[in-house]
Amino acid sequence: MKKRIAILLSGRGSNFEAIARNVASGALDAEIAVVISNRPGAAGLAAAEKLGIPAVTIPSRGMEREAYDALLVEELRRHRADLVCLAGFMRFLSPVFVRAFPNRVLNIHPSLLPSFPGLEAQRQALEHGVKISGCTVHFVDEDLDHGPIILQAAVAVEDGDTEATLSARILKEEHRIYSEAIRLVLAGAVRVENRRVIQNRGARV
Ligand code: GAR
Repeated sequence: MKKRIAILLSGRGSNFEAIARNVASGALDAEIAVVISNRPGAAGLAAAEKLGIPAVTIPSRGMEREAYDALLVEELRRHRADLVCLAGFMRFLSPVFVRAFPNRVLNIHPSLLPSFPGLEAQRQALEHGVKISGCTVHFVDEDLDHGPIILQAAVAVEDGDTEATLSARILKEEHRIYSEAIRLVLAGAVRVENRRVIQNRGARV
């Protein structure tokens, strides 16, 4: 039976669409069980509906963190999610959530963590003046943008870069490495040792 991926997003949803393309082409042997947004009207929801994927809004505004996360867990269980992928989900998840899916929640972040966690990572990178930035796919733990790193891709910062141009080049790499990381995790090809994600020897990837 195909593994069931759930996507959590808050906005545009281009990472979700990249994953959906890889599922459709067979590059990723899985199915997308549900797309959930905490923001009503997120563009990613419309994209999911167009693809015939269940799209659910669970508004988070004004809700207490634990109560909200319990709703999310319930919805994810209802859709029998094997793996939860945060794809531009702009909300910090509580231990209630993380403990419900141990090593089963992935996030993509537009910097080379541990540099520039939090909001506007690309702007932070430009303002700091780094010459190399990039993106990171990691397991989600109880701290923000912090868990064990599965894959990273480096992107050179060019002198003429603006936040928009740098973000666009990083996004291209995000679309590539997110599906690759999902593939590794679903194949059981990696394990976590302390903070390190190690590829299992002999794993078929
Ligand atoms: C992506 O750049 C993703 O890395 C970032 O939000 C964007 C969502 O784009 N996520 C974070 O900053 C999480 N801390 P998308 O909706 O087009 O996938």
